[in-house]
Amino acid sequence: MTSGLAKTRRIVPYIGMAATVILLVAAFVLGLVSFGKMRQVITEEFNQQQLVLAKNLSALIRQDLDFLRRELMVLNSSPSIQFSESPSWRSRMKVTMDSIQGEELLEIWRWESLDKYSSVMDRTGGVRAERWPFDEEGLAKWARDGANRNKIMMASVPKTAAGKYGGRPLLLMAVPTYQVSPDEAHASPPGRFAGALAFLLDASAVASRFVDQARSGTTGYAWVIDGEGTFLAHPKHEFIGRNAFMARHEEFPSLGFERINEIMRDKMLTGQEGTGEYVSGWHRDEAGPVEKLIAYAPVEVHSAPPRLFWSVAVVAPTSEVHGLVRSLFMRQFFTQAAIFLAILAGAFSVLRLERYWGNLQKQKEREINLSSRLAALGTLSAGVAHEINNPIAIILGFTDLLLEKIPEGAEGHEQLKIIERQGLACKKIVENLSRFARIPEQRDETSDMNEEVKRVVAMVQNTLLTEKIICKTELQEGLPRVMGDPQGLGQVLLNLITNARAAMKNGGVLTIGTRQAGDFAELWVQDTGSGIRKQDLGHIFDPFFTTKAPGEGTGLGLSISHGIIERAGGTMTVQSRHEEEAASEPSGTTFTVRLPVADKTREDA
Ligand SMILES: Nc1ncnc2c1ncn2[C@@H]1O[C@H](COP(=O)(O)OP(=O)(O)OP(=O)(O)O)[C@@H](O)[C@H]1O
Ligand SMILES: [Mg+2]
Repeated sequence: MTSGLAKTRRIVPYIGMAATVILLVAAFVLGLVSFGKMRQVITEEFNQQQLVLAKNLSALIRQDLDFLRRELMVLNSSPSIQFSESPSWRSRMKVTMDSIQGEELLEIWRWESLDKYSSVMDRTGGVRAERWPFDEEGLAKWARDGANRNKIMMASVPKTAAGKYGGRPLLLMAVPTYQVSPDEAHASPPGRFAGALAFLLDASAVASRFVDQARSGTTGYAWVIDGEGTFLAHPKHEFIGRNAFMARHEEFPSLGFERINEIMRDKMLTGQEGTGEYVSGWHRDEAGPVEKLIAYAPVEVHSAPPRLFWSVAVVAPTSEVHGLVRSLFMRQFFTQAAIFLAILAGAFSVLRLERYWGNLQKQKEREINLSSRLAALGTLSAGVAHEINNPIAIILGFTDLLLEKIPEGAEGHEQLKIIERQGLACKKIVENLSRFARIPEQRDETSDMNEEVKRVVAMVQNTLLTEKIICKTELQEGLPRVMGDPQGLGQVLLNLITNARAAMKNGGVLTIGTRQAGDFAELWVQDTGSGIRKQDLGHIFDPFFTTKAPGEGTGLGLSISHGIIERAGGTMTVQSRHEEEAASEPSGTTFTVRLPVADKTREDA
């Protein structure tokens, strides 16, 4: 039962360790899984944010176009424009030209329905006459159509017509002009069709105005293509005006760009919004294949047919998001690991503490056990001693009488001597036993440890020398007196020396020392003998425990000594290393007797 329990106890730490390792591995695997999941979620989240940004940019561009449309309508409602009042129409146009800041408005065109020529004002305010160049039939027809009154037409301008502006993508914003606004000269306007008014816009300036400043994450950016796939805005300014499919291919012929071309063709150029991933040939100024996240949203440039729209894209390298996720995950993982290890360390400390208390308790139990056994033995001994003492006294008395009658040399004298010797030996044992039962009235007696050591060593010195045992003493000077009677202390010392002699059959060194330790004085007896086996250490103070051959030892020496010291309020401990258990270190045993220092005041009284 007990051994089963002990076995379980021994296995527990290993089970704990295995469980820990399994838990750690499981935590790591789960961590990896959640890392993948987290990455996916955050990536999607990030791309959704990009989509919001793309939609915002789209709204900004649309608002800008609305503002231009309003400006065109306001100008178109001016009587000086409607009635071609010279020269006031020029100054009116100039006001509009100046009120529109930036690069967006390139020219204002005024076409009179009866004229082949149009009046064109550029940003400087200069006016020239020029033929209506754009899609002449279509636009003139559209303007004349009464159904289009008050409507605005938006159209891309053919590249050929935009030669003057270096092939920049242009956008035309036109409105039919009717003579409807009254002024001093025309109190009742006729409401006749008069021609058309148009803004020639720099499409890339309109597209770039807000997009150029957009940032996604730390390095992500935005770009815009028109309905044909021509770049209107891009951080690489040389791309503007070029076809996006061609520009990419020409820049990085080695890369396929399948994904992005697919996204452009199937989604962006069909006016859809969404998100995706692709591999790009560059990111800002760095070249090389870069994985990117893209979100795109259409910009409604002109909703009435023919519908005209652009597409805004917001892109950022995937690594930016993944790097963030990784560092986040790492931080989380390490925090978890630290907490886990802290809990583990705590658990181990608790286990250790528990074991420590367990051992302490066991030791206490053993001591109590021993004391009670000694007490029981003491009571028994008292009775036995009393019963045996009388017969032995009688035997010894009669032996004495007979020895007087039978002189030395006479028959029977030797036998009587043997009887006397054995009788005396019995008396000695009885005396030893009766020490257990001694009433503690001698407790008040005190001894001088050093004196006792000197006395006993002088007694055994010669015997030790014949047994090739060197005896050394290390006595601390000025040691205070200790509790316990000198005779008892002497017997304890003698018992310890006797045991040490027995353990050093082939000689050795015996060291006896004293020292003060706080309110106690210590006496230690050290030998270089065979030592005590671990399994015996717990039993040597038990009465009748001996490892000696039958007849050689009674096993009472240490238990009696223990009793004497305990009665004096002291303790006795042992440290030993057995010769078979000591790997390379020398074997031997040290007994330490600790006695309380005698109370000075009491002693003086
Ligand atoms: N210094 C020592 N070195 C090695 N073993 C020792 C030493 N002191 C005690 N022992 C062990 O402790 C046992 C008990 O000692 P204890 O003095 O109580 O009895 P004993 O010496 O065997 O017999 P007794 O003292 O009654 O003649 C011894 O048998 C011995 O095995
Ligand atoms: Mg002994």
